Amino acid sequence: MSSEIVTFDDPTGVGPPIELERLVVPEDVDVAEQRLIKVPEPDPHYVDLGMLYRFARVEAVRRTNPEGYLPVHVAVRGHMGTGKDHDIEQFAARLGLPYYRIPLTGEVRDVTLIGSTHLHGDGKGGTESRWEDGDITRALRGPALVNLSELNAAGAETLFALHGLLDRYGAIDLPTGETVRLRGDVRVFGTMNPTDLRDYAGTQTLNKAFADRWIIWEKDFPDSEQIEKMLSVRYPHMRDAYVEAISRLAVEVNDSFNEADVEVRVETPISLRTILDRLPIGLRIHENSEDPLRLAWEEFVLPHVDTYDRDHYETVWNAVVRKGPGEKPF
Ligand SMILES: Nc1ncnc2c1ncn2[C@@H]1O[C@H](COP(=O)(O)OP(=O)(O)OP(=O)(O)O)[C@@H](O)[C@H]1O
Ligand SMILES: [Mg+2]
Repeated sequence: MSSEIVTFDDPTGVGPPIELERLVVPEDVDVAEQRLIKVPEPDPHYVDLGMLYRFARVEAVRRTNPEGYLPVHVAVRGHMGTGKDHDIEQFAARLGLPYYRIPLTGEVRDVTLIGSTHLHGDGKGGTESRWEDGDITRALRGPALVNLSELNAAGAETLFALHGLLDRYGAIDLPTGETVRLRGDVRVFGTMNPTDLRDYAGTQTLNKAFADRWIIWEKDFPDSEQIEKMLSVRYPHMRDAYVEAISRLAVEVNDSFNEADVEVRVETPISLRTILDRLPIGLRIHENSEDPLRLAWEEFVLPHVDTYDRDHYETVWNAVVRKGPGEKPF
């Protein structure tokens, strides 16, 4: 079987292309078939804003590293809807790795992640206890890209269970006595929201010892050029006036989110889901009306914003567009 090479280009045009061999899930892997269906489909509308290329650089070093095993794991930190999980998923798609996204919400207990012992009937009227893998353990049993999402929502107990996995020890010890090692074809990633002043219910500052086990990279809000690119890849027929107006609105709102002055700043950023999914639906629904952008804004953007924040959103609207483009959106 010939191996396939995937090429990662630097979107800034500075670095050289990076070529990596795509994984072929070996057929002798126990659950090969279930793993194969976990390899994500490439998103034809995905635009690499730089993150995929950065992942590929780490991956290239990892594969050639003469010192052997590298206990490095990349965590992406950014505000809601900046595309963190999507980057990681698309990296798995390019590399052909089965993708396991495991949210570490506060509710999740280490038994869910690691596993637990269950009682089963033994068929002779008695019971026997049997170990059942939890989500992480199951993922680690074969080639995988594990995305531990919402790292900073996890409780301390959950984090401690993962310490050994993420450092030089590179393994999880099960209560059964079994040691599950990090295989050479397993990658661990994570995502989290920044814990600044803003409201991400259930998140906390990352435990220092836990944070020290990661490479933490920031994911900023996209700039206007990047938004325009993503919009026109996804909606090739959207008229320029709309592409520009939407990208300016998003950039202004998100700049205002980063503003220190509480008097003028907005408390809810505009996510890529709003920009790429919801607003365009609104434009289609209202395409024959007089001001499709305004109606889409009212119906698909403002309801996501807390009432006290609407004034700030409207200030941005008035400063940036005031009246939507006087042509059809598509
Ligand atoms: N680089 C990209 N190119 C095209 N579309 C993207 C890109 N990144 C994200 N998207 C779109 O934006 C949506 C939101 O991305 P994603 O769910 O990864 O955000 P997130 O940062 O993980 O958000 P949250 O913090 O709320 O979990 C995706 O479903 C996808 O449609
Ligand atoms: Mg996410």
